Amino acid sequence: MRIILGVSGGIAAYKSVLLLRLLREAGHSVRVIPTAAALRFVGAATWEALSGEPASADVFDDVPGVPHVALGQGADLVVVAPATADLLSRAASGRADDLLTATLLTARCPVALAPAMHTEMWEHPATRTNVALLRERGVHIIEPASGRLTGADSGSGRLPEPADIAREALALIPSSSCAKSQDLAGKSVVVSAGGTREPIDPVRWIGNRSSGKQGIALAKTARTRGAHVTLVAANIEDAEGAADVVIPVETCLELRQAVRDAGAAADVIVMAAAVADFRPAMPAAVKIKKAQGPASIDLVENPDILAELIREPLRAGQVVVGFAAETGDETSEVLEYGRAKARRKGADLLAVNVVGEGLGFGTATNEIWLLNAVGEQVAHAAGSKREVADAIWDAVIAL
Ligand code: C5P
Repeated sequence: MRIILGVSGGIAAYKSVLLLRLLREAGHSVRVIPTAAALRFVGAATWEALSGEPASADVFDDVPGVPHVALGQGADLVVVAPATADLLSRAASGRADDLLTATLLTARCPVALAPAMHTEMWEHPATRTNVALLRERGVHIIEPASGRLTGADSGSGRLPEPADIAREALALIPSSSCAKSQDLAGKSVVVSAGGTREPIDPVRWIGNRSSGKQGIALAKTARTRGAHVTLVAANIEDAEGAADVVIPVETCLELRQAVRDAGAAADVIVMAAAVADFRPAMPAAVKIKKAQGPASIDLVENPDILAELIREPLRAGQVVVGFAAETGDETSEVLEYGRAKARRKGADLLAVNVVGEGLGFGTATNEIWLLNAVGEQVAHAAGSKREVADAIWDAVIAL
């Protein structure tokens, strides 16, 4: 395949060096088109040495070759990583003031943009409008990840890992060589993600540390592999755009209703959400005052949504996947808990992961063991949450 790798001027440009290597190692010919600002972060020599092709930002280089038209016309895929706020703005308004934006206007192949910028810029209404407009025109936006940004700050706007960008962008190429990447085509899946909040009073709740990242990765990878995805998002900030349908929920009971409604027509339900086992019996209608002294809260048990889905399937042949976040000193101990839970819950697959200090919740990487309904291990996966998500879908498809 002929790939154009656009690089705009953000510090994450250094990650695109690895992206270039991955695309080349996958057997593609890659032409890098940096912007002038990108060349201040990573020089042309690096791009040229690794791609084996010229890397110019300027429409006036090689005028007889008419590169500002020819490069876009000849491409099977254009991927821009990082796509800065400025690049998104220029692309949205149809500017053609350098070789990269001119190429974006002439390309008729799939185009993927991987935005990366500080959270404030990513959340600014101008950027939101540009992203919405580009999406409307059929541009594929690779959602930025959350996490450490340039300095000590962190938030949404981080460039995803190069392997994840490569996988998501390559899946856009409609060719038989990508058939595997569409192995969920025609399937409808429901993924619950995040952590429920059970109200104590109008301002307080009982909750948990689940970030929803693994569930978002499951939704995105399923979509990339062709599924129609409904994401039931319990208190997740970055859910927008992660699925075909996003249903925001807060409590266990809301999550249960949303999963049951969307799940009635689903081929697969993945319960990645961390659901509170108990809720306050009588949430106070007004804020509980400190002067009332230490309040004791009566709890009642929440329904086990996963157990219900297995006891009374919403649809014949539906595959149900559960999660078990366990703590333990030894992997063997965690796996023992997991095996007992797999047998107790009886889900088609149970993804067991170790959580605790720096592990599982809120981190960019994960490690899981997939157990079947009788507690036998059918797969093990470790890596980015998208890699782990892909391994879970592989196991679902194998079923
Ligand atoms: O028993 P435990 O809470 O560890 O089981 C976790 C699995 O059960 C997850 O898949 C979670 O989404 C699901 N669950 C549920 N309803 C609950 C509690 C957990 O569906 N009330």
